[in-house]
Amino acid sequence: MKNDRENYILPDQRAAAKRTRGPAGTEYGLFQPDRLITTLGSGKTYFVRTYGCQANVRDGETLAGMLEMMGFAMAERAEDADVVIFNTCAVRQAAEEHVFGEVGSLKPVKLKHPEKVYCICGCMAQEPVVVERIMAKYPQVDLVFGTHNIDRFPDLLHQVMTEKKRVIEVLSEEGRVIENLPVRRSSSSKGFVNIMYGCDKFCTYCIVPYTRGRERSRKQEDILAEIRELKAGGRREAVLLGQNVNAYGKDLGIEDGFTKLLEACGETGIDRIRFYTSHPRDYSSTTILAMKNYPNIMKSLHLPVQSGSDEILKRMNRGYTADTYKKLYDEMKALIPEITFTTDLIVGFPSETDEQFQKTLDLVDYCKFDLAYSFVYSPRAGTPAARMEDTIPAEVKKERLQILNDRLAYHASQNNQKYLGRTLKVLCEGPSKKNPDILSGYSEENKLVNFRGSADLKDQIADVRITGVHSFSLDGEAL
Ligand code: SAH
Ligand code: SF4
Ligand code: F3S
Repeated sequence: MKNDRENYILPDQRAAAKRTRGPAGTEYGLFQPDRLITTLGSGKTYFVRTYGCQANVRDGETLAGMLEMMGFAMAERAEDADVVIFNTCAVRQAAEEHVFGEVGSLKPVKLKHPEKVYCICGCMAQEPVVVERIMAKYPQVDLVFGTHNIDRFPDLLHQVMTEKKRVIEVLSEEGRVIENLPVRRSSSSKGFVNIMYGCDKFCTYCIVPYTRGRERSRKQEDILAEIRELKAGGRREAVLLGQNVNAYGKDLGIEDGFTKLLEACGETGIDRIRFYTSHPRDYSSTTILAMKNYPNIMKSLHLPVQSGSDEILKRMNRGYTADTYKKLYDEMKALIPEITFTTDLIVGFPSETDEQFQKTLDLVDYCKFDLAYSFVYSPRAGTPAARMEDTIPAEVKKERLQILNDRLAYHASQNNQKYLGRTLKVLCEGPSKKNPDILSGYSEENKLVNFRGSADLKDQIADVRITGVHSFSLDGEAL
């Protein structure tokens, strides 16, 4: 497709960094697809390929909901679909290259079938460098839209399909919180529920504050209504989502908003509540109490620490020290001894020394995480860390990641020994990905459990006796 720069709305990272204060407001009636659009997809299929975090998974579910409202049916594979959406993640370069690889491989298909429509949305679309690259090298991409104007997707798709032209519309500033968008949920056992959008933390390595805009909380009543809907639809678990859930309600002027919300979610009576992601800086002790007091708030916490070195944490702009993190950890373990703890870690932040890396290992030995997502630092264009001098060779970073991963696996496997012979409550998601004869699901502790049992346990909470343990999963038998 030819470029039509004049009619494009392109992302602007400087504008994306701006923050306004006060409530963003909520928009309830924005999404009203007209009759024309609801027939756009008749006889056609779609495929949504989602990368990145659970917030992106939830966006993918909204896109699928809109496509089905427009009459499209879901295809099994991207190659077969009439409309393919790449709902992308920008958090690391490797993820971006993967998307470019996949989009690149569709070029011959597009040449043969020019009527197929390829779209890129999500966090990558918010990056000026990415959109420039798409315009220069990926003529097979017909539509680019961003994270702030998902509600516009049906109109934009309609434009592409009827006017046969390339459309690029990426807003750099977030608008209001938009309610009442359709959704096609990807899981029948649990549901993702956004409680807030955006991030104001500006960790120096991270692109998210630029791609997702400022923190905007949804109204408590809208969140609770979504959870009740999940429950009424037979789903057992609500997964509350936000880049930094502990900041929930700040923009609405609610004091200790997250704990209050969590308690209200507990009161809905849904079987399980989890939440991602917490930030150590804003953690309130009342949240731990709520976790303890409500049996349906799961006793597992994902609390990213990133590094064990105070110097690195400072340069990351994380706003806490290794000691404050350890204290928080101690406090939680003291109040809820059975709590499981997971985290995110970055190695090879610009000029990280051996000593600083050792501090991360020390912290891992202290907290003995049940699971950790570990990454090699990846420079992101336009972020402060990308401008920092980096003297550490790539091989050293890789080596550090390996050392860290070995240590993490050791602690995880040690932690899991205690489950052998015990009976855990597992929310069964269905047959395991690797073996259709085995069921899989997550225990209350958020342990992945692969187990033998009858197929009708799908979407049920089963009692499973643990017969084997590994570092990152357990084996068992349904009772
Ligand atoms: N809001 C969450 C996580 C967002 S991104 C939080 O604050 O924890 C998920 C994880 O990706 C981060 O916790 C961090 O460990 C990692 N990450 C983010 N930016 C990165 C970068 N530039 N390079 C490597 N890892 C990064
Ligand atoms: Fe990124 Fe930090 Fe915000 Fe998490 S809290 S999304 S790591 S800026
Ligand atoms: Fe990735 Fe955007 Fe989520 S950068 S981690 S998809 S917020």
